[in-house]
Amino acid sequence: MASTEPFKNVLLLPQTNQLLGLFTIIRDKTTSRSDFIFYSDRIIRLLVEEGLNHLPVEKKSVDTHTNEVFEGVGFKGKICGVSIVRAGESMEQGLRDCCRSVRIGKILIQRDEETALPKLYYEKLPEDISDRFVFLLDPMLATGGSAIMATDVLIKRGVKPERIFFLNLICSKEGIDNYHSAHPDVKIVTGVIDRGLNEDRYLVPGLGDFGDRYYCI
Ligand code: URA
Repeated sequence: MASTEPFKNVLLLPQTNQLLGLFTIIRDKTTSRSDFIFYSDRIIRLLVEEGLNHLPVEKKSVDTHTNEVFEGVGFKGKICGVSIVRAGESMEQGLRDCCRSVRIGKILIQRDEETALPKLYYEKLPEDISDRFVFLLDPMLATGGSAIMATDVLIKRGVKPERIFFLNLICSKEGIDNYHSAHPDVKIVTGVIDRGLNEDRYLVPGLGDFGDRYYCI
């Protein structure tokens, strides 16, 4: 079953019945594509909100319509999203829904046919990305190979690891360990930690190929 044991730098969504219900729908192989999109989007929204909970704030006072002063906070710093194409693009709208006019970059990594290793094919990132908090978007953290390479790209562009939040719906302990052995200071924001991987490197119990279910079938 899903793990709830704490890991360092892993922000696991509260395992509520509501979240369990959402995962039950998207894991069900009979779920239609439109329901898969709708309920995945709800989980994505929760992941984005959880990531935002961990951004720094500073004190800010405002005058209210009752001529009182409200002592609140304002967000400190700028953020951007970076999606790992294609499946990560499914998470862009959830980020836009929470952060108006947010800049979003893209990274395309695919398996090299000859070496079977992940290879960087394309990157398009905001010029000032090194000044921003980055929400790295990829729905499934299985082995972590693509996410490690995408994070390498961000760090080469000057982003500090502690300013990166890697958002995924489902991960495995193996994926967390692999990813954190390369990038221990990045925070992983995840919906659930699955049992492991099968021989085809799919998460189990998982939900199959997220990109295919969101975009194709
Ligand atoms: N990517 C997917 O879409 N599904 C998995 O189970 C693992 C990686």
